[in-house]
Amino acid sequence: MKLLTGNSNKVLSKSIAKYLRSKLVNSSIRKFADGEIYVEINENIRGNSIFIIQSVSSPANDNLMELLLVIDALKRSSAKNITAVIPYFGYARQDRKVVPRTSISAKLVSNLITKAGADRIVTVDLHAGQIQGFFDIPVDNLFATPIFARHIKKKIKSKEIICVAPDVGGTERARALGKLLNVGLAIVDKRRPKPGQSQVMNVIGNVKNKTCIIVDDIIDSGGTIINAARALKQKGAEDVYVYITHGVLSGDAVKKIKNSVIKNLVITDTIDNVEKTKNVKNIEVLPISGLMGEAINRISNSTSVSDLFK
Ligand code: R5P
Repeated sequence: MKLLTGNSNKVLSKSIAKYLRSKLVNSSIRKFADGEIYVEINENIRGNSIFIIQSVSSPANDNLMELLLVIDALKRSSAKNITAVIPYFGYARQDRKVVPRTSISAKLVSNLITKAGADRIVTVDLHAGQIQGFFDIPVDNLFATPIFARHIKKKIKSKEIICVAPDVGGTERARALGKLLNVGLAIVDKRRPKPGQSQVMNVIGNVKNKTCIIVDDIIDSGGTIINAARALKQKGAEDVYVYITHGVLSGDAVKKIKNSVIKNLVITDTIDNVEKTKNVKNIEVLPISGLMGEAINRISNSTSVSDLFK
């Protein structure tokens, strides 16, 4: 078994390699003057099982293309099998036609990855679980919820905790965290008048004097979470903590969070945010390398991945 990294999140790849006491395959990913990506594997990988680690985070198009070209290079170098380890699976938010005449990017990207030559996918908190069905190869979708639950039990001492889904789509995730913490559930009724804009219509459930834990898969512009946190405060919430797997953090999201009512935002390092979150007091980054490393270990040894979540 060998690990290889793309350019999207080398810090995470190194941490996974450290967990597995392994080294990263020597490879070069460069660009031609016009921006085209060039991939070269600098060591023999014939007959090896290869895990290529690459998040489809910003710049998403470059990182996706890099992933496809690395898979192609691995296939042409006679790797025995190729697992695409995609900590953040970008392009997942368009997973169906919400309005007519739109694309379904999650399906197209799944086709591209399979066609390039991947034999298996490992990812974390897919935006929608059913995206697994867009692939005809095995997909292991890992969950950050147990990592969050451990952190909450250690850090938040309040006895009146409630888990909050920031929109109806996030109900299952919030319920799963609530089950681990043995607390109740509230739901924010969010509408999106336009892509990138969010509006809170109502809060379902009683949050008065409670410590609210909002849980979601993605924080992008921050609009969803900031509006939800504000609405919860208006309904009498004591404090609002936020736990989100993928810190996309576009534009001035970090600044908005800094100035918001959110007491603490916890994200994982599926996306490299070292620079963006440096010195920001109310943003904390939890490592995902242990979970991902252990999943890779179990896949290599053909043992159960789902047991990780029991
Ligand atoms: C939407 O369904 C996702 O789960 C996130 O809530 C959304 O992508 C967050 O986007 P933003 O931070 O831009 O509101």
